[in-house]
Amino acid sequence: MLTAHLIAYAIATMRIVAQGIDLIECERIGQIWKRHGQRFLTRLLTDAEIRYVKRYKDAVPSVAGRFAAKEAILKVLGTGWRGKIAWRDMEILNDTQGQPHVTLSGECARIAETLGITRIVTSITHTPNYAAATTLGLDERS
Ligand SMILES: CC(C)(COP(=O)(O)OP(=O)(O)OC[C@H]1O[C@@H](n2cnc3c(N)ncnc32)[C@H](O)[C@@H]1OP(=O)(O)O)[C@@H](O)C(=O)NCCC(=O)NCCS
Repeated sequence: MLTAHLIAYAIATMRIVAQGIDLIECERIGQIWKRHGQRFLTRLLTDAEIRYVKRYKDAVPSVAGRFAAKEAILKVLGTGWRGKIAWRDMEILNDTQGQPHVTLSGECARIAETLGITRIVTSITHTPNYAAATTLGLDERS
């Protein structure tokens, strides 16, 4: 979860434009992956994300975590799935401490700009059964 001090800092120095949350069953992601193979993975994740999740012995919960985070980002953007949006327009990579960072591109970046969102922060959790993510869209110029 986002730590209390980060939320307090965000409220003090930035405007929270929107928030999003998502929960998913890992089994569902595992089944889709099994059915569609690599095609599913390369549609959902960027090459760098694929390299990251494959560091896990069982990559399914981490893939499900990214799926949840990307759905939560779509909730922040408020559009749901729309014509030009691609999963790979949202990239979530972890720093050396393991903390995930979001980079938007393409149509997602364009929508975020329209909403005045300059930064997206996310927090991901997963167990073998479930993955969940929360997301905030921030305007750092406020
Ligand atoms: C950072 C920490 C809180 C993450 O907790 P966790 O239970 O391992 O994490 P979860 O299983 O709920 O979720 C995993 C996700 O946490 C996120 N995460 C990992 N390290 C993180 C960090 N430093 N900051 C923010 N998020 C982090 C990642 O997104 C990860 O998923 P991903 O690798 O697929 O992207 C944990 O690693 C930690 O340092 N805990 C300190 C307490 C401790 O060491 N306890 C062990 C003895 S009881």
